[in-house]
Amino acid sequence: MDVLQVVVTSTRPTRIGGVVGSWFTRLAQGHGGFEVRTTDLAELELPLLDEEAEPNERRYTKPHTLAWSETIEAADAVVFVLPEYNFSFPASAKNAVDCLYDEWHYKPVGLVSYGNTSGGLRSAQAFKPVLSTMKMFPLPGQVALQFAGQLIKDAELHASENHEAAAKGMLDELAFLSPHFRAIREARAS
Ligand SMILES: Cc1cc2nc3c(=O)[nH]c(=O)nc-3n(C[C@H](O)[C@H](O)[C@H](O)COP(=O)(O)O)c2cc1C
Repeated sequence: MDVLQVVVTSTRPTRIGGVVGSWFTRLAQGHGGFEVRTTDLAELELPLLDEEAEPNERRYTKPHTLAWSETIEAADAVVFVLPEYNFSFPASAKNAVDCLYDEWHYKPVGLVSYGNTSGGLRSAQAFKPVLSTMKMFPLPGQVALQFAGQLIKDAELHASENHEAAAKGMLDELAFLSPHFRAIREARAS
């Protein structure tokens, strides 16, 4: 079964990203199209780039980079759980992308964005060129959660039916694309 890697990108001690990530992970597990794995950047504690070699050389020496590389290498599709900070994506997400190179290539990507008024749409739109530069293929649409903090009760996200339908649509599309991108990666490697 293809592996879907969910990446929770916010790292603030009082963040809601973990709750949003758990909500999406549960939906993804219920979808049944993937083996779902979730990585939390707050737990991974990737420092700002601290390897001597550039990521495209893939000469990693630090345990955190090696672990992150292994995680993304194993992924067939990726979903970033992405807050909006100052009309853009969090620095932790950019750093996590920058730490690797080949591992990202030819993988379809979904975005679950959240924030206040815009539901993280500006964050997601700003992140897409970063992803494309790394030969990732972000889906045009995304799940966008407006005023996500207000949807949380008892440490659980209570999203609307529309949000859940958007998440299901994203998972369907990723499940459709994932084997095709795997074939591309295999053709490239041979
Ligand atoms: C540094 C910072 C900047 C923010 N900028 C925006 C913003 O531009 N637009 C928005 O809708 N919300 C903004 N917010 C609100 C966040 O989207 C909201 O607090 C969200 O819960 C943050 O995700 P987190 O709790 O997982 O860190 C900002 C929050 C922080 C901490």
